[in-house]
Amino acid sequence: MKKPFLSLVLLCAASVAVADPTLTIRADKIVKPASPMLYGLMTEEINHSYDGGLYAELIQNRAFLDDSQTPKCWSLVQNNGAAATMALDTGETFNGKVSLRLDVTSASKDSPAGVANEGYWGIPVFPSTRYHACFYAKASPTLSGPVAASIVSDDGATVYASARVSHLSSDWKMYQVTLKTGRAITPTAKTRFLLSVENPGTVWLGCVSLFPPTWKNQPNGFRKDLLQMLINMNPKFLRLPGGNYLEGNTIPDRFDWKKTIGPVIDRPGHDGPWGYRSTDGLGFLEYLRWCEDMNAEPVLAVYAGYSLNHTHVKPGIDLEPYVQDALDEIEYVTGATSTKWGAKRAKDGHPKPFPLHYVEIGNEDWFDGSGSYDERFTQFYKAIKAKYPQLQCISTIGNDADANLRVRSSNPDVLDEHYYRSARVFLRDASHFDNYDRNGPRIFVGEWAAHESTFPPWDRRSADLPPTPNMKAALADAAWMTGMERNSDLIQMQSYAPLMVNVNPGARQWRPDLIGYDTLHCYGSPSYYAIKIFANNLGDQIPAVTSDDSTIYDSVTENSKTGAIIIKLVNAQTNAQTLKLDIQGARLKSDGTAVTLAAAPDATNSIDNPTNVVPVVTKVTDIASPFSYTVPANSIVVLALKSK
Ligand code: AHR
Repeated sequence: MKKPFLSLVLLCAASVAVADPTLTIRADKIVKPASPMLYGLMTEEINHSYDGGLYAELIQNRAFLDDSQTPKCWSLVQNNGAAATMALDTGETFNGKVSLRLDVTSASKDSPAGVANEGYWGIPVFPSTRYHACFYAKASPTLSGPVAASIVSDDGATVYASARVSHLSSDWKMYQVTLKTGRAITPTAKTRFLLSVENPGTVWLGCVSLFPPTWKNQPNGFRKDLLQMLINMNPKFLRLPGGNYLEGNTIPDRFDWKKTIGPVIDRPGHDGPWGYRSTDGLGFLEYLRWCEDMNAEPVLAVYAGYSLNHTHVKPGIDLEPYVQDALDEIEYVTGATSTKWGAKRAKDGHPKPFPLHYVEIGNEDWFDGSGSYDERFTQFYKAIKAKYPQLQCISTIGNDADANLRVRSSNPDVLDEHYYRSARVFLRDASHFDNYDRNGPRIFVGEWAAHESTFPPWDRRSADLPPTPNMKAALADAAWMTGMERNSDLIQMQSYAPLMVNVNPGARQWRPDLIGYDTLHCYGSPSYYAIKIFANNLGDQIPAVTSDDSTIYDSVTENSKTGAIIIKLVNAQTNAQTLKLDIQGARLKSDGTAVTLAAAPDATNSIDNPTNVVPVVTKVTDIASPFSYTVPANSIVVLALKSK
């Protein structure tokens, strides 16, 4: 383990060729367990993580609700002299909401008129791909002839895929078509989605939707490349649905889970706290399916009566409906189909209950300066424990927050602590948890990230920086993770935040973020790879370890079933460092594996250069304890050794 202020002294000593520093591992002396739930993910709708991100819907403002004045993201198309107008119509509502009205006064086969949607920074066009379009429409009796649904280039000159509906009814009806692209297409996002007619008349549109192939072809599903990246992180849990997104700017804008389930067209959507509206197409059941797809379990954050504009619901009678909502929510997740909300889940398409062990009550309630959290938490805690005694209740006020605001009237099982720190501070404070009280509640580090710049994520000046962190931050993140892993008898779970960012202009609200993507591609930051290699190499127990080294951050775990000894080493120095690894109490096999992530501190990944910094796997041979291992400069190494 690194002893921060000695590094300079010992670095000098090493330069005069004293013996290599030693990391001594007593493999047969297990001192504590490592948490099997340690590595997980935190998510919320920020940076267009869902709409324009993981949620594969391609039409932006599909229900025309994003702006009450204009059909945002939609434009009128009048080809070769066609004439038409479009407007939101609150007189002809679809499903009780607004429709988009297209009045065509002149159009023909060669001069079609229609409306185009710009998608989320374009519609992703890939070769040999099937897209599923679905729209609700009605037409005036005067309109005859077909409606074409097409994916076209921005200038309309190229049609990448097109399909037709032969005619529209004069009553609201759902229409579905499949659009297929050709084999020879070069992927592009300089595109839009067009619905057009060849005759004069009026068309009203309700919800308009377009999906590419989704993860496992699930309807209303997930973008495949992004979900694969998340699965590759081997997460054990997903903390959902936020973050600020849980709380909302105001109480009505909280994540009101009951409004996010059932048929998509019935979901009203809501204003999110990050400056844009959420469709809630990725609603509560989709979150749970997402967990299932990753083989992870939800860490369910329930709204606890505090919103970001510093309003809170008074504990007592006023809070009761919110407590009931949380109990219903838990029943929706875990209840048998004989229960009210378990039956609703089955009706929504998922009879099987989901696993659940942790419920978080609120988010960052230290911002509630009124001090009401103690009472609010306790009211939720008592109700949850009475019905679900097996559930672990997480308080959002940890040891890092004002002690006066902490919960006193009940005993939280776990405390959620958040750490957004500079890389420098993470490196200096990597032993943060080493001396934590083992008699208090366990810890969930539910949000953390190192920023390599001087600007913290909420500083507007960070808007000019790249969306994802560089290697300097990854080294600090990895050092911080060694500290959490060494203490994972206490730290049950941890998750980096935020997880995802759409890198298109105007899409992001926060940096740094772990995974970046545009309309066509995605990539992992160096920190993504650091977490990935840590999470995929974790034992279930922690042996006694001593170190006389001052420059390398370390964590060691062992797998009790396979006998593997996993040594994580982080060298944030600009010179390589040789360590003597003295592994006692184990009969080592002579070969092992090293996974190394090494790069200059300012090296990074991006859409244009997605694999500039990636881990490299090498074989390590001739292992016999003790042996010397050289940890490259600016590197993160995971050594997996086998024992006989
Ligand atoms: O991760 C971004 C935000 O940081 C979260 O929404 C909030 O919980 C924290 O303040």
